[in-house]
Amino acid sequence: MIVDYVKGSLMRALVCNSWGDPQSALSLETRPNPTAGPGQVVVEMIASPINPSDLLTIRNQYGRQPQLPFAPGFEGVGKVISGRGIMAWRVIGKRVAVIAADGGAWQEQCVIPAIRAIPIPDSIPDDQAASFFVNPATAWAIVNNVLKIRRGEVLIQSAAAGAVGQMIQGLAKHIGFEVIHVVRRDEQANCLKQLGASTVVVGQGEPLVTALREALAGRHCRMGLDAIGGTTGAAILKSLSRHGTLISYGRLSGDPIPVDPGTLLDGMKSIQGFWLSEWMKDQSKLTLWRLFGTLAGLISRGVLHSPTGAIFQAENFRDAVSEAGRIGKEGKVLIRFKA
Ligand SMILES: NC(=O)c1ccc[n+]([C@@H]2O[C@H](COP(=O)([O-])OP(=O)(O)OC[C@H]3O[C@@H](n4cnc5c(N)ncnc54)[C@H](OP(=O)(O)O)[C@@H]3O)[C@@H](O)[C@H]2O)c1
Repeated sequence: MIVDYVKGSLMRALVCNSWGDPQSALSLETRPNPTAGPGQVVVEMIASPINPSDLLTIRNQYGRQPQLPFAPGFEGVGKVISGRGIMAWRVIGKRVAVIAADGGAWQEQCVIPAIRAIPIPDSIPDDQAASFFVNPATAWAIVNNVLKIRRGEVLIQSAAAGAVGQMIQGLAKHIGFEVIHVVRRDEQANCLKQLGASTVVVGQGEPLVTALREALAGRHCRMGLDAIGGTTGAAILKSLSRHGTLISYGRLSGDPIPVDPGTLLDGMKSIQGFWLSEWMKDQSKLTLWRLFGTLAGLISRGVLHSPTGAIFQAENFRDAVSEAGRIGKEGKVLIRFKA
């Protein structure tokens, strides 16, 4: 096996063999190098982020679950080394963002449909290219396609200091809308202010309703964005004005949003879910194609910036998943497959 690995016919893959704590559920295994089928490419991976969706999948808590065993990782950056078909030939030899909708990005070599290998300009470094799609597309789609936020409007968002939250702030500066950010720690408020945020509320639960009312100071806000759930989501919903909509796109607390029907009836408010993979099903190929170009432009200009945290080599995956789940981590944790 070792000889084969040296010869280059085998690769290393992070594999999830059982559901549960990612530290014990994952192992680093040796597998034969994959080959591309029609319309597919093989990408030699450079780096992949550890997103909350990866950890939830390993814990068997995500919306759609693969069969065990599986290689996790929904995105990353790498170089296309082989492929089959016209769409593959256009990217062979290029550095690409990998959109691995079925997982598998946490391997030295990953097979994806050629149309999901997005060539990346040199102006985008590896750490940003690794997080090219999941969070940037979510922030962009919610702002521009779902809520259609216009210049001068106000949005309240929770989980504001996270990667998606910071991208929403980047879009707010770019487009000219205002965000009232909700975070749970004082350090996060300082971080957001450095990014140009004007209003940050530190709080959770019922006291958050009062804090948000003070922050709004009588202004109307018809849009809320929540990735926490529980009483944080409920407080944002309560703070919205008539016909307000709360977009729920995550459940980081693990708690359901407790909603008194009266909160919805009074002011005819609504809660709407957003899941990127479902949203993509409603978009034409052309729309998605244009979106890839839009994201590349906004990432190049720093409008959509992924805060980069600690970077770990694949063999140190246990430290990597532990850091990714730590409260107070500095930014997006990356797994590197090349030294
Ligand atoms: N629906 C979709 O299609 C979609 C797409 C992309 C992302 N998402 C979701 O978006 C969310 C954010 O993703 P991300 O990549 O931005 O994550 P991230 O970078 O890890 O940031 C998460 C943020 O939420 C905070 N947080 C975590 N648990 C919390 C809790 N119980 N109460 C209050 N704050 C809490 C964290 O604060 P600390 O630093 O204090 O831990 C951190 O600031 C996740 O739920 C992810 O699954 C959904």
